[in-house]
Order: sequence, then C-alpha cells, then structure tokens
Amino acid sequence: MPMIHFLTNTYQMIDPLFGQSPRPVELDLGCGKGRFTLDLAERYPERLVLGADIMAGRLRKVSRKAEKRQLENLELLRALNLDLVALLLPPDSIDRAHLLCPDPWPKDKHRNKRLVTTYFLAKVADRLKPDGVLHLATDHKPYYEDWTRIIAELPFFENAPDAIADVADIKTDFELLWHSEGKQVQHLAYRCRKERL
Ligand SMILES: C[S@@+](CC[C@H](N)C(=O)[O-])C[C@H]1O[C@@H](n2cnc3c(N)ncnc32)[C@H](O)[C@@H]1O
Repeated sequence: MPMIHFLTNTYQMIDPLFGQSPRPVELDLGCGKGRFTLDLAERYPERLVLGADIMAGRLRKVSRKAEKRQLENLELLRALNLDLVALLLPPDSIDRAHLLCPDPWPKDKHRNKRLVTTYFLAKVADRLKPDGVLHLATDHKPYYEDWTRIIAELPFFENAPDAIADVADIKTDFELLWHSEGKQVQHLAYRCRKERL
C-alpha cells in the first residue's frame, strides 16, 4: 500500500542533488479522491506519481484504491500545496505538475485564499525541472481568466497545450462532476523556461 508521508521536512526521495529518482516525476496538487492520480500512475508505471492533499482521510482512500489496483509507482504527500512548492519539494525535481479543479473561492471576500498567484507560480517554476510542465484546470471562468492574465506576464512560462495531450482523456473526480452538471472544464498547460527565471 502506498505510504502517506506527513511532510515536515524536505521530501528528499526525489532530490536530484542526492542522485534520487532518475524516473520522471508527476505531481498532482490537491489530488482529492485521486481518480486522476491513480489513472496517471497506471498509465505510466515507469514514472513516479506524487499525489498531494491536505486531507489525510482522502489520501488514505487513495492509498487503498492504489493497493487494489496494484500500483507501485505512487507516493502520497500530506501537505499544503503552497508549503510543498515553496519549501518541501527540492528544486528542479518535478517533470509535470497538475493543479486540477482547485477551490476557486468565488466570493470577493475570499479572493485572498486563492492558491494561484505570481508567488505560487514562481515557486512552482523553481520546483519544475528545465522544460517541466504546469497543467491547470478549472470550471470557474473568472479564475481561469485570472490565470491566463497573470501567467501572460511571467516570461518563464510558455504556452504548451501539446504537453498535456497524452492525459486529455483522464478526468478528475471534480471534472466528471462538473461535466454531469453541464459545466465546461478548461485546461491550460505551460512549459517552464528556466533560463528566463
Ligand atoms: C475541489 S477538490 C479537487 C480535487 C481533485 N483535484 C479533482 O479535481 O477531483 C480540491 C482538493 O484540494 C485539497 N486542498 C484544498 N486546499 C488545499 C491546500 N491548501 N493544500 C493542499 N490541498 C488542498 C482539498 O482537500 C481537495 O481534496
């Protein structure tokens, strides 16, 4: 059964400086019930898939599902998304980061709870390997518009829709829910140009 790491220090298992993890690393930030994480791990057994969430109970359920599916390339991290990218993951360690259907905090008074800011994006870029990919998705049009506007100002992220073509058919739990309610989920993908950081 995949272990749940309650992170209080750097997750060194993937630190390139320590010669760790020569395999490609995928990170699912806020993996929830884990449909996307699990399908991704099954599709790419040669990659290490990290599913991260703040809710330990959700991670336990993902862990049990992973065991039933005999997935051995999955690790679960209990941490806040911002702590992960700002502190807990080593620099240059992630090939592709997915942030799919994060809470949009739609009310104006909750705007400051939104995760995607210039600071967050700069920290994600630090954690990505050169030419690593950031994959974002939301059903919430104002949040989507914020993302495109903020990211257009960041020289180190280059639009790269092809970088997620291989996972276009893998849906998250929330994405399926939004589809069942007739809502559209928009996806964005960017490649990180480290030389422009
Ligand atoms: C709306 S759900 C989306 C889950 C999944 N990505 C999907 O699309 O089905 C958001 C998930 O992010 C987790 N979450 C919310 N805030 C978080 C934070 N600051 N750090 C880590 N996880 C967080 C929640 O526990 C929840 O599982």
